[in-house]
Amino acid sequence: MIGNNSVCVEKWQEGEEKTMICRIVTIPGDGIGPEIVGEACKVLDKVGQIYGHEFHYTEILMGGCSIDTYGVPLTDEALETARKADAVLLGAVGGDVGNSRWYDVAPNLRPEAGLLAIRKGLNLFANIRPAYLYKELAQACPLKKEIIGDGFDMVIMRELTGGLYFGERCTEKIDGVMTAKDTLTYNENEIRRIAVKAFDIAMKRKKKVISVDKANVLDSSRLWRQVVEEVAGDYPEVELSHMLVDNCAMQLVMNPGQFDVILTENMFGDILSDEASMITGSIGMLSSASLNETKFGLYEPSHGSAPDIAGKDLANPIATILSAAMMLRYSFDLDREAAAVEKAVQKVLEEGYRTGDIYGEGCMKVGTAQMGDLICARCI
Ligand code: IPM
Ligand code: MG
Repeated sequence: MIGNNSVCVEKWQEGEEKTMICRIVTIPGDGIGPEIVGEACKVLDKVGQIYGHEFHYTEILMGGCSIDTYGVPLTDEALETARKADAVLLGAVGGDVGNSRWYDVAPNLRPEAGLLAIRKGLNLFANIRPAYLYKELAQACPLKKEIIGDGFDMVIMRELTGGLYFGERCTEKIDGVMTAKDTLTYNENEIRRIAVKAFDIAMKRKKKVISVDKANVLDSSRLWRQVVEEVAGDYPEVELSHMLVDNCAMQLVMNPGQFDVILTENMFGDILSDEASMITGSIGMLSSASLNETKFGLYEPSHGSAPDIAGKDLANPIATILSAAMMLRYSFDLDREAAAVEKAVQKVLEEGYRTGDIYGEGCMKVGTAQMGDLICARCI
């Protein structure tokens, strides 16, 4: 079956394991994007070999490379190709803001606009960003030992298609004074659907949701709180509490172990997820999934395109590889296969292999491609 919401073709034969044919659209993008997506596909292919699945890839352009080729960060055709896939794997888009070719243009023509357009165009309203401290990377965590304690394992559920990012905006002269305006709007349905996702995920974890808002100032936050409370009524086993965003920023570096699922709106989630990623030791470790109401999803590392190290075999591919594992789990229901990838990453870290961003004394420094190979070899 072709089209969004499609289910991957499943081949069944008596006495045989389930085999899936999965159509993946890849978006290598800019900077280190092509290198890290290449490593993630390598790992997917290894998983396919072992478990008998077929992954078919179609590549599209988005971001700066699309601007260079088509003059826009995402063409309608590319968006339609993505819509027809079972899932999308993205590297990173954007570049150095000093790159006038991409940035001396209207905001809706810059590389990042492609990312916003694909999120909105495919209705990817639920952005899941796990932040987990591998004990092997504890020395790369900037927090003191007594704060790290037994480590932390949280998930940020960020609303991704509403709020300030998509509200009306303008810049104009009012009474001779340059004035810019951005609007933050949420309706109850947008809040409800992301809250449901957060509670669903909490049910599979430690059953604790902390909803983050700025209800002491913003109307949108007061509605957020009210709707989240209503949704909580359907999940009596989940403990819900509310936290103001400024306090949350502080709590993340004071007591990160207290968090299980953080539920929050678009912009707060953008900021808090960078903070959470930093305390895991490196933003190069953080995966993410952006989902709609179906099994369809877009999977990407939480980090950016790192143009300064692009093409040098220096980038850490782990966040993208872990994003591919999330794809296996959320879009294809291949839990066993996802766990195999996650275990392989764990094993490589235990054995002491590190890319430059997570390198510490006594470890073995490896490049992007070698890290991909090491993970492949441990996918069993
Ligand atoms: C992210 C990024 C994007 C965002 C940018 C590139 C538009 O920071 O995915 O967190 O703010 O959502
Ligand atoms: Mg961000």
